[in-house]
Amino acid sequence: MCGIVGYIGKEEAAPILLYGLSRLEYRGYDSAGISVYDGGEVRTVKAAGKLENLIRLTEEGRAVHGSVGIGHTRWATHGEPSDVNAHPHVSASGRIAVVHNGIIENYLSLKQMLQAEGVVFRSETDTEVVAQLIDFYYEGDILRAVSRAVDKLDGSYALGILCSDHPDMLLAARKESPLIVAYGEGCNYIASDVTAVLKYTRSVSYMEDEEIAVVREGSITFYNEYLQQIEKPVVHIDWDVEAAEKGGYAHFMLKEIHEQPRVVKNTLSAHIRNGRVDLSDTMLTEDYCREIDKVQIIGCGSAYHVGVVGRYLLEKYARIPAEAVLASEFRYSEPIVDEKTLVIVISQSGETADTIAAMREAKRLGAKTLAIVNVVGSTIAKEADSVIYTLAGPEIAVATTKAYSAQLAIFYLITVALAEKRGKLKEAESAAIVRALEALPGQIEEILTHKEALQQLASKYFNNSSIFFIGRNLDYAISLEGSLKLKEISYIHSEAYAGGELKHGTISLIEPETLVIAVATYEQLFDKLMSNVKEVTARKASVFCVAQARNAEDAGKAAADCFFIPDTHEMLTPSLACVPLQLFAYYVALNRGCDIDKPRNLAKSVTVE
Ligand code: G6P
Repeated sequence: MCGIVGYIGKEEAAPILLYGLSRLEYRGYDSAGISVYDGGEVRTVKAAGKLENLIRLTEEGRAVHGSVGIGHTRWATHGEPSDVNAHPHVSASGRIAVVHNGIIENYLSLKQMLQAEGVVFRSETDTEVVAQLIDFYYEGDILRAVSRAVDKLDGSYALGILCSDHPDMLLAARKESPLIVAYGEGCNYIASDVTAVLKYTRSVSYMEDEEIAVVREGSITFYNEYLQQIEKPVVHIDWDVEAAEKGGYAHFMLKEIHEQPRVVKNTLSAHIRNGRVDLSDTMLTEDYCREIDKVQIIGCGSAYHVGVVGRYLLEKYARIPAEAVLASEFRYSEPIVDEKTLVIVISQSGETADTIAAMREAKRLGAKTLAIVNVVGSTIAKEADSVIYTLAGPEIAVATTKAYSAQLAIFYLITVALAEKRGKLKEAESAAIVRALEALPGQIEEILTHKEALQQLASKYFNNSSIFFIGRNLDYAISLEGSLKLKEISYIHSEAYAGGELKHGTISLIEPETLVIAVATYEQLFDKLMSNVKEVTARKASVFCVAQARNAEDAGKAAADCFFIPDTHEMLTPSLACVPLQLFAYYVALNRGCDIDKPRNLAKSVTVE
């Protein structure tokens, strides 16, 4: 995700800010910038691309003078990565500079309100709205202006704020996005991540939601949402830099698994308005949805597995023929697609060579393409006819977890939109799905609190040489992903089968104590899958079953080991079922001493055929 750093003291701020930003590079970013008060005004320098560009532009910071400043590395969510969209954003008066991590969900309505008041905007970002809004409320008291402004913001934010009228202070505010203040000798800092300041100090305070900090050279004062002054504990950081980058988690994969509640919430809430799915800013208009006669979903690896989930959902709910096709197969299969085919292209990176080629082939044949992409400004995002972004932030572990979950979330939205517009979903049913969608982040959070149970199971089974996954319908799609996660990071041979296929070959591989992971969350076929479980237990396989809590009793009778996910709408079980499988794969790999974040022979983004 984006990175924030701020400094106030006696030294030149720019080199300290640039160093802090360099420590945040690992988080991924596509542009960077700093604002420094130079004794007369706030000077802002920004550059798209690598931090190197900003370092060159500022002559390693030597060209920007002043001892108070804020800096930022941006990962684009609203608007292309560009100089103008990079942070800091400065209000039209030039008085307020803001860096921001997070997403302001109501930025469009705030922007319209400010435009109606004559405020002129320069960028496409949600962050510029924050800078302009603070300026709009500013009447000499900057703390009050910040407080009034953040009160109007929906969504998540960590903010670093500089005001040219008050160069003796920096302000920091947060809600649902991490932010710390750090105590130096005769200076103080703000940062989104301790790594940015660990070189200078190990004494920090963690800001909580809706708190504001006024950071001066010699003091830091905290306020709650009512602007009452509060005290906060000072924490001593004893982690090394590497541990700090992972936010205290042992691996990026584990950190990213834990980010899923937030990522799913962000991704969904960007397209749910007043209890309804709203994809009106995509190509899925009513006329278009009625026009298409089939859907092809293309992707590679885990993105393809999301396509398999999507295919079941679209056929069941929107009653439209849908197929998931591996991008590498699609491109050479002389696909039958035309202007009535909707081709949905799924890619975290937006740069996977086979997926790009498949998308271009689909376009050449006249199909319309809708991309589900994580990286703003990537090739697929640029070339597709329409894009829906997953708001997962940068993913660092090679094995995808949070981007996969965000892609699933988008697919539920597409399914509801298509089904509604094709007249296949009643309003009450849509409303029930939306309610269940809104509960998903909390339910994922709940699953994460039971991770020790998966750690124990992994300790029991990590020596197995072969592990099979079975499931039917959506559970089959989840089995594909669970099996891929396990094999890619633990190097254990694993395969996933549709439950009904067992008898057609695979069952010959079941020996006493072979582990079979039965994914049995799809309510309608629960009993059928339990029959498959009986087939393998009869051959003395060990079975670990993932089921909904509502089927705990029956699943518990059939399988020696179980993990129960909270009950949810039948369409949404993939989002809950995938989490225990990710954690199981993670802990198995941990027990086997594997290089979890960088598994052998694999790459995060496969940009060659
Ligand atoms: C690689 C990654 C996978 C990913 C696949 C597709 O194999 O290791 O995690 O699912 O590429 O990548 P994309 O960026 O197109 O989603």
